[in-house]
Amino acid sequence: MSVPTRTTAGATPSADSARSALVNGVKPDDLSRDPAVDAPLGLAFPDGFGWGAATSAYQIEGAAKDDGRGESVWDTFSHTPGRTKNGDTGDTAVDHYHRYPEDLDLMRGLGLRSYRFSISWSRVQADGTGTPNQRGLDFYRRLVDGLLQRGIEPMATLFHWDTPQALQDRGGWESRETAYRFAEYAEHVYAALDDSVPVWLTVNEPKTVVQNGYITGHHAPGKRDEPLAYQVAHHLQLGHGLAVQALRATGSSSRIGPAFNLHPCYPADDSAAAAAATRLYDGYENRIYLDSALRGHYPEDVLADQGPDSPFARSIRDGDLAIISAPVDLLAVQYYTPYYVTGDGDTERRHATSKAFWQQIYPDGMYDVLTRITREYGPLPLTVTENGLPCPDVLGPEDDIDDVERVAFLRDHFAAAHRAIADGVPLESYHVWSLLDNFEWDQGYDERWGLVYVDYATQRRILKRSALWYQRVIADNAV
Ligand code: FCB
Repeated sequence: MSVPTRTTAGATPSADSARSALVNGVKPDDLSRDPAVDAPLGLAFPDGFGWGAATSAYQIEGAAKDDGRGESVWDTFSHTPGRTKNGDTGDTAVDHYHRYPEDLDLMRGLGLRSYRFSISWSRVQADGTGTPNQRGLDFYRRLVDGLLQRGIEPMATLFHWDTPQALQDRGGWESRETAYRFAEYAEHVYAALDDSVPVWLTVNEPKTVVQNGYITGHHAPGKRDEPLAYQVAHHLQLGHGLAVQALRATGSSSRIGPAFNLHPCYPADDSAAAAAATRLYDGYENRIYLDSALRGHYPEDVLADQGPDSPFARSIRDGDLAIISAPVDLLAVQYYTPYYVTGDGDTERRHATSKAFWQQIYPDGMYDVLTRITREYGPLPLTVTENGLPCPDVLGPEDDIDDVERVAFLRDHFAAAHRAIADGVPLESYHVWSLLDNFEWDQGYDERWGLVYVDYATQRRILKRSALWYQRVIADNAV
């Protein structure tokens, strides 16, 4: 089976922070350069819809050595020559660790209702175990308080790929032990922040760790061992379930769920071979994660394909699936691209490709993913926690960034989500990837995904046209 892979409280609340949304000197009403793209479609979203934006710790924080933070696999990986474009690292990133008050004001200015960020495990436990580092937790406390002061709902991801290096040295997610260490780390984070975080997400995109970290090796920890990769998948799922159980054990009233990147898989032609290959492809892309977390079993076709003596099969112990399928409150969906699968299990392109070569632009895929979940897994509340587009994003002479492609992309994907809601999908929020340009993993700073441009030389933040457009969408609660 060949899998597709992308290489692919210090904050001062400011009552007038909405002004920060005008740092370009451009008001939403000035968006007249391409009225066809910016014009409202008249699609109203449900009252209280949670318009948001997403980031992750290693991609934005920087401050890699501040306040007792330990190294993660991404520090090691990005500092290994040849692993990232231009040798880029997250050492400084967009310096969010120090500039978060300004970033909070930007969010407020945009009118965000929800902000999804991740917590760096090695800030909380430098070597992934033991007594938590209070200074690390304090940063997240300041961030969460700053969000609440601005009326923005915090949504915190516990793990966005930055495994503490010390745990990696002991096997990382290849080892079952890491799942238990993860639940202990989660307990510390809950103890520090749960009173203020209404929504927790456990593991971000386990599939990307499996495929990129352990099959193609172009993400940390940079291994190439496909059989082992599915042992990792099982341990990531186990970590998810244990973290859910750990939250329940506190008696918390916060909600929790996993964050899966789901890919609609379509047969490339009408042949029976393509239909069969697409089914298995879907097993590896989607059902291995969805079925284990939401139904308490792994898909039969994936189990059969791996075989009873595979590391995957051998890593599954009695009782694990009951842990993995501990009831969740919501499912976080991340959608970027569809796959078209041929009879021999390869994939074909059907749509325009973005600057990220693994991404085909296909808004209807958003509709298909959302409606499929509701149809096949029941009426679980859904949140879109990532969706976005990298663009060339050239800074213009008047500090303008005319990312018209991003506006069109978001408009079309929002419209697809709107259609899914109209057809009964309980979608409650939508987070654009990303709030800010940031360290895009192996692609370094070459790919810009933000609503907000970052001039990396000065760390100046400048709103792109898409940010101003999004500000209006949020204010209107309509596309
Ligand atoms: C997702 C990741 C996120 C970012 C976007 C472009 O897969 O979760 O960190 O890299 O893709």
